[in-house]
Parts: sequence; structure tokens; C-alpha cells
Amino acid sequence: GFASFKEVLNDGLKNGYAVGQFNVNNLEFLQAIVEVAEEERSPVILGVSEGAMKYMGLEYTVAMAKAAAEKASVPVILHLDHGSSYQVVLKCIRAGFSSIMIDASHYPLEENIAKTKQVVDACHVLGIDVEGELGRIGGTEDDLTVDEREASLAVPEEAQRLVQETGIDALAPAIGSAHGPYKGKPELAFDRLAKIRDLTGVPLVLHGGSGIPDEDIRKAISLGVSKINVNTENQIAFTAKVREILNNDAKVYDPRKILGPAREAIKEVVREKIRLFGSNNRA
Ligand code: G3H
Ligand code: ZN
Repeated sequence: GFASFKEVLNDGLKNGYAVGQFNVNNLEFLQAIVEVAEEERSPVILGVSEGAMKYMGLEYTVAMAKAAAEKASVPVILHLDHGSSYQVVLKCIRAGFSSIMIDASHYPLEENIAKTKQVVDACHVLGIDVEGELGRIGGTEDDLTVDEREASLAVPEEAQRLVQETGIDALAPAIGSAHGPYKGKPELAFDRLAKIRDLTGVPLVLHGGSGIPDEDIRKAISLGVSKINVNTENQIAFTAKVREILNNDAKVYDPRKILGPAREAIKEVVREKIRLFGSNNRA
């Protein structure tokens, strides 16, 4: 079965490493992520956004992830990424997800708290851990774009309230990272991160993990980040390999000859991230 989200993150927080959430877009992503986790002896979180879920189908998603988790000897978690409503959350739990993110960050604080608490109350009865979000993370994921002016950093005192009043098991505070590839040089708000850590005490999650310099990743981990989400860098590696193969071979027609090497390209990225996050040899 799937591993405990809370246990895996708290071990990272205690021991100064972060666990990667790698987003799943198709079978090849899933295989690449879990194979590398196994090879690196690392716990791993499979992230599935609502868009990816629509693309793969909810039942296929859970069945593939279950097959991977059963085969693996390292902890594997199936996590809903940026869940947008109570209804979606319940649907995913019924289908077999092992943990949940509820993203009500676009609502005013009181509503974020109320919506997040509703999800936590239901999830905790069922033994499901919950990640919440505060502030708005910029950039694009699926079809949702948050532009720079709209993106706003999490306020530490509000983070404390969100955690205390909802009981969330992990918090994703917006600290200046962004989803997608076009973020220029990210300026992470480390002071704010440290304050949020001090006021909340829960494992913190860094979204928009693609394209952040290694030193900044290490610093974020040292300040309480114990989960880092990566999707775009894997998507770029996958697509670059597909493009290379198609450009170099006008006759190729077997999808396995295209997607197999693309899967290997994802493995390289995931391996690099796992070592950077320090979650290797922790399982
Ligand atoms: O929730 C998913 C991640 O935050 C994706 O971030 O687009 O920088 O890889 P990324
Ligand atoms: Zn995200």
C-alpha cells in the first residue's frame, strides 16, 4: 500500500532533507519516478493535478500508482496536487489517493481557513493527511495562470492561523517561486520562510521547484522545507528527448522507441533532484 505522508515529511523535517513530489503525466513518468526512487533508496511522492487526472483517468491513475507502490520497497505516496474543491477531494479519496492537497489560496483568508478545515475534518477521520496553501504561487500549471502582480507572498501570522485553525499536516506558503518554465531568476523570501517555520512547526512545501538554483533549494531545506514539487523540468526533459528522436529519425514509428528514451530522460532529472534534496538512502 501507500506510505504515510505525514511520517515521510516529518522524517525529512527532523533529519534535514526534503522529499520530492514528482508530478505524473502518463505511464512513462510514473515508471521513471518510482524506478529512480527505488534505485536511490528514497521515499517519493507521486503528485497528480486535476488536469493530469482528467488526462489519465482517475481509475487508471490510481491503478498504475498502486501497481508501482506494490512493486516498490521504498515508501510511495499518491497525493492530489492543488485540489480545488471538497468534491474533488472526496472523489480522489474514494478512488484510493493516500493524501490530499486542498488549494483554497485564491480565497480571502477566512474562506481559505473554512474550506481547508472542511477538508481536514473529513480527511483526518479517514486517516488521510492534508496539505494546505497560503498566498498565491505565480506561473502556470494546467490551465491556471497566476501573473506576477497577482502572485502574493504568504504572511507569517496568517500561516500560523491557517495551520492552527485547520489542523493541516503540511503547508505550502507562497515565498516567490512559480509554476512553469518562465520565471526568470526566482527570488525566494527566505526571511519569511524562517518566520513561517517558527510560527507553524509543520513541514513546509516548496511548489514551483523547477528552475530554482541548487543553493536556494539547499537553503530552503535548511529553513524547514521538507517537500519540493517538480513537474516542469521533467516535462521539458521528456519533450526534448521526443523532439530529438523525431528530428533525427524520419522513419521511426514505434512509440516505444520514442517514449522509452524519453522515460530515461525523466529518470536523469529525478535522480538529480532526489540527490539534491538529500532523500536518497533514507528508505
Ligand atoms: O504543484 C506542482 C509543482 O509546484 C510544479 O512546479 O512547474 O516548477 O515544476 P514546476
Ligand atoms: Zn504547485
